[in-house]
Amino acid sequence: MPMNAPFPAVRIRDEFPVFRHHPDLIYLDNAATTHKPLAVLDAERDFYETANANVHRAAHRLGSAATDAFEGARHRIATHLNAAHADEVIFTRGTTEAINLAANSWGRANLRPGDVILASVLEHHANIVPWQLVAQQTGAVVRPIPLGADGNIDPAAFGALLTAEVRLVALTHCSNATGVLPPLQPMIAAAKAAGARVLIDGAQGIAHAGVDVRALGADFYAFSGHKVYGPTGVGVLWARRELLAHMPPWQGGGEMIDRVSFDGTTFAEPPFRFEAGTPPIAQAVGLAAALDWLDRHDRPALLAHETALRDRFEAGLQSLDGIRILGAGTARGPITALAFDRVHPYDVAQFLDGYGVAVRVGQHCAGPLHQWLGLNGSLRASFAAYNTGADVDAALAALATTLDMLA
Ligand SMILES: Cc1ncc(COP(=O)(O)O)c(C=O)c1O
Repeated sequence: MPMNAPFPAVRIRDEFPVFRHHPDLIYLDNAATTHKPLAVLDAERDFYETANANVHRAAHRLGSAATDAFEGARHRIATHLNAAHADEVIFTRGTTEAINLAANSWGRANLRPGDVILASVLEHHANIVPWQLVAQQTGAVVRPIPLGADGNIDPAAFGALLTAEVRLVALTHCSNATGVLPPLQPMIAAAKAAGARVLIDGAQGIAHAGVDVRALGADFYAFSGHKVYGPTGVGVLWARRELLAHMPPWQGGGEMIDRVSFDGTTFAEPPFRFEAGTPPIAQAVGLAAALDWLDRHDRPALLAHETALRDRFEAGLQSLDGIRILGAGTARGPITALAFDRVHPYDVAQFLDGYGVAVRVGQHCAGPLHQWLGLNGSLRASFAAYNTGADVDAALAALATTLDMLA
């Protein structure tokens, strides 16, 4: 498509069969999971119809076709990430498993009593709890990176935490709860200069801002297929080849071994060392199709479209009383989180569902952030490629009616 043209959201919506089944759906829960375009559904179906077999071990032609499709997906994903090598892409079940892999493999091999892991207050539980578990096992400690009054991380305050004991910094690319975008570049540079490894949770960031892992400069990048128009059950941990070469396995089983005997087992090279058992084969093919689908679009125009929807939504909120936008004063992705003065967000979300408006309510697996905000929960609207200005206007009208009724 021509660059600099407005993003064709209305046409793109036709590529998502869910809207044929639910024509009135106003889906603003994209940070939880996105819907799937036909290109992804077709890729998975085509795999099952034409190439379904187990990978890497079959001595028959379908096994070769399956292996080619699966390894082809790894190459396409590596290209999308601008990774230096396809073997830097490890398939997992999703972001959660990717971070658990890093924590269990890299963490258990490298963390010692007294070492420090820094995780920001913005993090999803998936980027806190695996580090707490590995800290319990190794004697390391997990410390929070605090937020400034604007709800974002102050790089200077972060710099003050970077002592010689810090071995790993766990940071989100984009907060799933408030959409806040931490200042990654200066933070990654400072962490690396202090000798720490950096893991970026890209679950939200990859769908909006996109990622170039080499330009980003972090050590690990984790994301889920289902939040980037791909299937559930598949995700990726990317890490630099030199780092993976020294990481031990974390799950044992088939596929990840070199040779097994009761006298001792040796392990395969990365990425297979980290992929025990049958991997998510069709899902990996679907994920590659999702990233190809994204690459066929003008990414800056897509981000501008999603951001314009967020801004339209937030401008419309100005005429409603008793609503606060969380993190309003800092850089954010296309996510709006709201706190209400007089009504409970759960009640609001239920009424909105009655008007066909799907939003998320609760703590969004970001307990420490909500503790910092002093809130039991918030209501989140998150925007994606297929959302339109009409979606936003309908959501605003439903919200105005809801607040009137609950008043
Ligand atoms: C920022 C962030 N990290 C991690 C996760 C966990 O992703 P998954 O459940 O796909 O493993 C999510 C999901 O909401 C998320 O938004």
